Amino acid sequence: MADLTVSLFFTLIVIVICFLFLTKRKRLDGEPPLENGWLPFIGVALQFQRNPLEFLTSRKRRYGDAFTCRIAGKYFTFILDPFSYNAVIRQGKNLNFQKFAIAASLKVFGHADFSDPKYNISYEEIHPIFRQTLQGAALQPLTLSMMKNLQFVMQKSKAYDWTTEGVYSFAFKIMFEAGYLTLFGRNEYLLAEDNAEEAQEAWMTRIMDDFKVLDNAFPHIVAGVPIFLLWKVKAAREDLAGKFLHEYLKKNTNLSELIEKRINIFDRIKNLDEVNKARTHVAMLWASQANTLPATFWSLFYMLRSPEALREARKEVEQLLQDTNQSTETQVCFTKDHLDNMTVLGSIIDEALRLSSASIMIRVANENFILTLDSREEIKIRKGDCIALYPQMIHLDPEIYEDAKEFKYNRFLDENGQRKTCFLKNGRKFKSFLLPFGAGISECPGRFFAVNEIKQFLALILCHYDLELQNMDIPPLDNSRAGFGILQPKYDVQFRYKLKRKNREKL
Ligand SMILES: *[C@@H]1O[C@H](CO)[C@@H](O)[C@H](O)[C@H]1NC(C)=O
Ligand SMILES: *[C@@H]1O[C@H](CO)[C@@H](O)[C@H](O)[C@H]1NC(C)=O
Ligand SMILES: *[C@@H]1O[C@H](CO)[C@@H](O)[C@H](O)[C@H]1NC(C)=O
Ligand SMILES: *[C@@H]1O[C@H](CO)[C@@H](O)[C@H](O)[C@H]1NC(C)=O
Repeated sequence: MADLTVSLFFTLIVIVICFLFLTKRKRLDGEPPLENGWLPFIGVALQFQRNPLEFLTSRKRRYGDAFTCRIAGKYFTFILDPFSYNAVIRQGKNLNFQKFAIAASLKVFGHADFSDPKYNISYEEIHPIFRQTLQGAALQPLTLSMMKNLQFVMQKSKAYDWTTEGVYSFAFKIMFEAGYLTLFGRNEYLLAEDNAEEAQEAWMTRIMDDFKVLDNAFPHIVAGVPIFLLWKVKAAREDLAGKFLHEYLKKNTNLSELIEKRINIFDRIKNLDEVNKARTHVAMLWASQANTLPATFWSLFYMLRSPEALREARKEVEQLLQDTNQSTETQVCFTKDHLDNMTVLGSIIDEALRLSSASIMIRVANENFILTLDSREEIKIRKGDCIALYPQMIHLDPEIYEDAKEFKYNRFLDENGQRKTCFLKNGRKFKSFLLPFGAGISECPGRFFAVNEIKQFLALILCHYDLELQNMDIPPLDNSRAGFGILQPKYDVQFRYKLKRKNREKL
C-alpha cells in the first residue's frame, strides 16, 4: 500500500501544478447551481471521495435536487430526486455512458480499444453476447455448472471440525474459485502432471492473489495513478493475462458459452494480438467477481447475524429439499426455477445490496441540451458535462425505507411472500427503489447471474455447513470504492464453521 499512497500523492501534485492557473467556469442562466470548490481543477473531488453520501446530503440541503460540482477537472450535474431518474435513464440520444466505462477499463486492464477503426469490430457487436449468454434460458446451464462447482470447492476444504476464519475470507475463497470455474472452465489438462492436485491448487491460488492485487489498486488507477508506477499491480495483471491466453483457455473443459463466444469473436478480429485478447478476459474476470464477492460477504454476514433471517432461510431451503426429494448427504441440485422460488433468500440478498452498494451512474452529454426534471423544471446541460445519479441516496432514504440503516430480512417480501416491488416516497410509487446494478443502457448484463450465484452459495452453505457468527458488530463500509459498486467492509468478521459430519466423503 505504501507505494500506492506515494504515487497517488505524486500524481496529485503533478495535477495541481498543471492546472493551478486554469480559470473556473461561471454558472449561466438556466443551469443548475454550481460549486467549483476552492481547489483548482480538483474542485470538490476530495470531499466527494471521502464520503459521497455525506457530501451529497449536505449539498442537497444547500442546493436542492439538482446541482453541478467540479470534480477532478470535469463538471458533474447530480440529479438526486428519484422521480427524475427516468428522465436521465431514458435520455439515450444526448447522453453516452460507454465513454466513461471504457476509459476506466482501458486504464486498468490495458486491453485493446475496440472503438479504434484498426479493429474490424465495435463494442456494439461484442456487447449483445452478455445478454445472449447470461440471461434467460442461458442461465440454466450456468446455474447447474455453478451448483457443481460450489460443492466441489466446499468439499475440497475438508473442514469437518470447527474452523475459525473471517466471513469475507471464507466467502471469497469459495465464490471466487467456483465462479472462476463456471466461466472459464477447468484446466483438467494439468491432471496429467504427477502432483495434479497441488498443481491445480497452486494455479488457483496464484490467480486469486493476482486478482486481489489488481482489485485493490482498481480505485487508484481509475482515479488517475498510471499503472506503470504500480509495478506489482502491473505484474499481477500480466500474470493473469498469461493464464488467459487462448492457447490455454481453449484446452479447458466446461468453458461457459460466454467465454467460448468471446474467444471466437476475438479470434476473428483483425490486428488483435494474443496478449490483448487475454487482457479482455482479465477484465471479464474482474467484472464477474469484484462486486459479487463483497455482495456475497454482506448477504452471508447479515443472514448469520439475524436469527429470524437464518431461521426463515433454513426453512425455505429445507422445504425445497423436501419438495424435490433431495438429501444433503449427497450433492444437492437446485435449478434456476427453484432458485427463483427462494424469495426469502432473494430478499436477504436485496437487503444486503441495499445496505452496501454505492455505485455512481454517469452519462456524458454529447450535445448541449435541456433536461426536464419530474418537477417540470428545465435545466441546461453543457456538451461534455456528466450527469450523475447516486442511488445510495435512495437506498438509505428514511422516507422510502423505514429504519433505513437497519437490516430487515423481509424488507423485500410482500404479504404473500413474493418479491415486493411497491415502494413509496411522499406517498408516490416509483420504480428505481433498488439500483445496485445500474439502470437503462448501463445496467449490468450479469445481474441475474450474480444474484443467482449468491443465492446458490447461501442455499448450499445452509445445506452443508454448521455456522456461528462470534461477533455481532457490523463492520463499517470502506468508502474507498464508493462509486464503483458494492463496498467492502473495513475489516473482516470472525465466525466458525464446519462441514456437517454426515457429508464426509460423500459430497
Ligand atoms: C462438465 O461437462 C461434463 C460433460 O458435458 C458434465 O458431465 C459435467 O457435469 C460438467 N461439469 C460441470 C462442473 O459443469
Ligand atoms: C475481420 O477481418 C477478418 C480478416 O479480414 C475476417 O476474417 C473477420 O471475419 C472480420 N471480423 C469481423 C468480426 O467482421
Ligand atoms: C419422492 O420420494 C417418494 C418416496 O421415495 C416418492 O413417492 C415421490 O414420488 C418422490 N417425489 C418426487 C417429486 O420425486
Ligand atoms: C414455485 O412455487 C410455486 C408456488 O409457490 C409452485 O407452484 C411451483 O411449483 C414452484 N416451482 C418450482 C420449480 O419449484
